[in-house]
Amino acid sequence: MIQNTIIAVKTIDQIKSPIAAELQQFETFFGQTLKAETEPMNSIMRYVLDSRGKRLRPILVLLSAKLFGEINEQTLRAATFVEMIHSATLIHDDVVDDDDQRRGHASVKAQFGNLSAVLAGDYLLAKAMLLIANDTDILNEMLRTTAAMSEGELMQLSGLNDYLEIITRKTALLMRSCCAIGAMSVGAAEEQIQRISDFGLHFGQLFQMRDDILDDENIEIANELLPNHLDKTLKILENLPKTEIHDALEDLTVFCAERIG
Ligand code: IPE
Ligand code: MG
Repeated sequence: MIQNTIIAVKTIDQIKSPIAAELQQFETFFGQTLKAETEPMNSIMRYVLDSRGKRLRPILVLLSAKLFGEINEQTLRAATFVEMIHSATLIHDDVVDDDDQRRGHASVKAQFGNLSAVLAGDYLLAKAMLLIANDTDILNEMLRTTAAMSEGELMQLSGLNDYLEIITRKTALLMRSCCAIGAMSVGAAEEQIQRISDFGLHFGQLFQMRDDILDDENIEIANELLPNHLDKTLKILENLPKTEIHDALEDLTVFCAERIG
């Protein structure tokens, strides 16, 4: 309860510092994986690479892996995978919402057209699945999550207003999976995978509540739920190994609850 008042909010660069080297490796791998064999897909992929986001999902994968072991090639594949799924979702979302702006640039659909944007999103999804095709546990987890995400988007479009259910499906399940597959990639014990997954789920819900407040959407319910949800999320972390990585996850949680952009 008092925790969120005594933890000073760190900058995202400070939070990322324990995994700075691995994030560099991720960037290299992500860039290589996005390359397409032909034009015009390759140009669209270069455009996607040039308008980068906060990389929150790969950060969650890397931190969840390092909390329980050594980041390895499977971890980097998982991190690349989640950022590709996230990118595909954003590209498709901007088609569905007819949005011309993304990350301060023209959206893919504004730049290349709706059809190219749908195909680019599909391409990213397929290439992403290839990355983890060698690990059935991770593949299983991710196929279930991506299906649930589509359901959530459609629920929202259909005007359903079960707030927690919608934010869980459209945002939190992917963040939950980031934590799960990060831990799985280093062979964490089942109980630990469950704990970090539960953290990821709550972290994702909290992230979306803050996102809604920033976007002036569902602001009443998001404001009402967020303070308790932050306490709950920090509480779940208490049962995880107390290391420098644990502190980073705690700082990231507070950062996301209080972020202004
Ligand atoms: C945006 O996510 C979409 C939501 C789930 C709210 P992010 O805010 O993590 O997007 P980028 O990658 O940093 O642009
Ligand atoms: Mg946003």
